[in-house]
Amino acid sequence: MCGIVGYIGKNNPKEILINSLKHLEYRGYDSSGIALKNKSDIQVIKSVGKINSLEEKLNNTELINSNMGIAHTRWATHGKVTVDNAHPHSTSHITLVHNGIIENANDIKNNLLTEYSFKSETDTEVIAALLNKFYEEEKDIYKALEKMISIVKGSYALAILVDNLDKIYAVRKNSPLIIGIGKNEYFIASDISAIIDYTNKYILLGEEEIGEIGFNDLVVYKDGNVCKKEIKTADLIKEDVSKGNYEHFMLKEIMEESSVFRKTLDKYISDFNNLIDLSNYEEIHIVACGSAMYAGMVGKNLLEEECSIKVDVECASEYRYKKVFYDRKTLVILISQSGETADTIAALRKAKSNGADTLGIVNVKTSSIAREVDYNLFIEAGVEVAVATTKAYLLQVLALSFLAIKSKYKVLSEELKEELRNIPSLLEEVLNRKEEYKKIANSIYQSEDVFFIGRKMDYAICMEGSLKLKEVAYIHSEAYQAGELKHGTISLIEDGMVVVAIITEEDIKDKTISNIIEVKTRGAKVILVTNDGSLPKYDFNIVVPKINKLFQSMLVVPVLQLIAYYTALLRDCDIDKPKNLAKSVTVE
Ligand code: AGP
Ligand code: GLU
Repeated sequence: MCGIVGYIGKNNPKEILINSLKHLEYRGYDSSGIALKNKSDIQVIKSVGKINSLEEKLNNTELINSNMGIAHTRWATHGKVTVDNAHPHSTSHITLVHNGIIENANDIKNNLLTEYSFKSETDTEVIAALLNKFYEEEKDIYKALEKMISIVKGSYALAILVDNLDKIYAVRKNSPLIIGIGKNEYFIASDISAIIDYTNKYILLGEEEIGEIGFNDLVVYKDGNVCKKEIKTADLIKEDVSKGNYEHFMLKEIMEESSVFRKTLDKYISDFNNLIDLSNYEEIHIVACGSAMYAGMVGKNLLEEECSIKVDVECASEYRYKKVFYDRKTLVILISQSGETADTIAALRKAKSNGADTLGIVNVKTSSIAREVDYNLFIEAGVEVAVATTKAYLLQVLALSFLAIKSKYKVLSEELKEELRNIPSLLEEVLNRKEEYKKIANSIYQSEDVFFIGRKMDYAICMEGSLKLKEVAYIHSEAYQAGELKHGTISLIEDGMVVVAIITEEDIKDKTISNIIEVKTRGAKVILVTNDGSLPKYDFNIVVPKINKLFQSMLVVPVLQLIAYYTALLRDCDIDKPKNLAKSVTVE
C-alpha cells in the first residue's frame, strides 16, 4: 500500500515531507516522488527505488522556495515501476498523488485521448487529466472535484495541488486519509504514524469528503456543504514509530507481545459481559487475508472443538466473489490488523448487504472496517510497523479465544482469569530463549525448502509459521496437514530437508509422531515445537509450557516468529520491508 503526505505551513516542506514519508516506508513501495509549490511554481521530482534515492535527487537539484507540498510512495498497480509512472502526476493545472485503484480508468482515459496526451501508464494520471478538464470547464475546484467524485469508480486517497491556488486538497474513497492539525500548519497523511513527529491531532476524512488546507485554516466539504469534523488525538507517541534499541521493528514488536497481551487481556476481562456470544448464531464465517486468516483458522479450531460451534474460514479474496449462503442467522467475523485490506472490506460489505451481522477483530480503531462493522472487538497491539505481523496476529488469536470462552462458559471464571494472567510471563520466558532459536536459524537459513506439519490446531499454527518464513526470509515453505504429506508431497522429502513439526494437541500427538518418523526415515532434519517434553528428541526440540488449549497456540507461534526473524537476519533480508509486500493491501 502506498503512502501519501502533504504539508502547508511556515516550515520547510521538503524536510517534513521526506521525514513523514519515511514513517510510511513500512507500508511497502517501489518508487517515490515529491511536489513543492510556491505562488508561481510547482516543482516535481520523482525516483524509483527507496526514498534515499529521491533524497539524493533532491540534494542535487536547485529547489524552489516553497511552503507547501505533497509527496508519495508508490506500490505499483497500473504500470511498471518507472520514474514516469511514479507520483506526483501533473497536468496544466493539477498535480496530485494517489493511493488506490481506479476501476474505470480505461473508459475515462479513452474519452480523454483526443484532448490530453498521457505521459504514464497509470490510472492515477487519468484522475489528474479528468480533474484538469473539469477545472478548466468549471473554473471552481470544488465543482471540479465533485464532478470527478461522481464519475470515478474504485478506491482513491488523493492529495492535490492546483497551480493558481494556495491550498492543498484531499479527497478519499475506500482508501484512508487524514488531515493533521499543527500550530499554523496542516498535514495530509495516509495515517497518523506518518506525522506523529509534528502532531497527534487530526481529523479523519470521510468517504467522498473534500478537505481543504490553507496556511491558517482547514475546511471539509461534502456535496457543497461544510462538514463539522471531530478533532481526534492519536494515542500514539514518537517512540511507537521508532525502533528504539532494536535492529528491526519486527523484533521490537515480537518482544512487545507480552505487554500488549497484558493490555488487551485487561480490556477483555473488564468488558467480558459485553462480549458477543457466538452461540446465538446459526452460522459463523471468519473472513480475512494472510496471517489474519490463519489466526481465524486457530479460532475455528477453538470454537468447533471447545464450543461445538461450526465455523467456516474463508480468505476474503475468494469470499467476496464466491457463492455464499446467508439463509440462516449468520455472523461474519472480519479479522484485519490494518482494517483497510481491500478484499476484507469487500467481504464485509457483501456480508452486510446480505443481512449478516458483522464483527470486526481489528487493531486500527479509525479504519474502514472498524467503522463499518456492526460490532468491534478491538485488539490493543499498538502501532505495528513491520510488514510481517507478529503481535497483532497473537492478539487476534487472544480475541478469538475470548469469543470461545464467552460462547462456551458465558462467564469468565477466576480460574480462567488466573490462567490468562499467567500467560504474559510465560510468553516472556518463551521469547527470551533466543539462543535456541538462533541455533535453529543457523541450521536452516541456507535451506531452499522448509515444510511445516501439524494436525488440527497445530496445522493452523503451521500456516502462520510457514508464512513468516516465506515473508521475511524468502525461503520457500509449505504448511501441510501432517497426515496429508504421504499423499504426494513426501516425494519431495530428501536428505537434509527441513521439516518443522508442531505437536500441542494431546489426542493426536502419536499420529503426528508417526508422520515425523515417515519424514525422518527419508532423511529430513526435524525441528519439533511442542508442549510435551516427553516426546522423542529430534534434531531440535523446543518445548513450551503446556497451558489451556484455548491459549496454547499463543506460546507456540512466537517461537516460529523468532525462528523466521533470525533466519531472515542470517540471510540479510530487508526484514521490516520485505520485497513486493505492503503492510496493508488496500488494492485488489
Ligand atoms: C502478515 O505478516 C502479512 N503482512 C499479511 O498476510 C497480512 O496478515 C494480510 O495482508 C492481512 O492484513 P490485515 O490484517 O491488515 O488485513
Ligand atoms: N494505482 C496507482 C498506481 O499504480 C497508485 C498505486 C498506489 O496505491 O501506490 O500508480
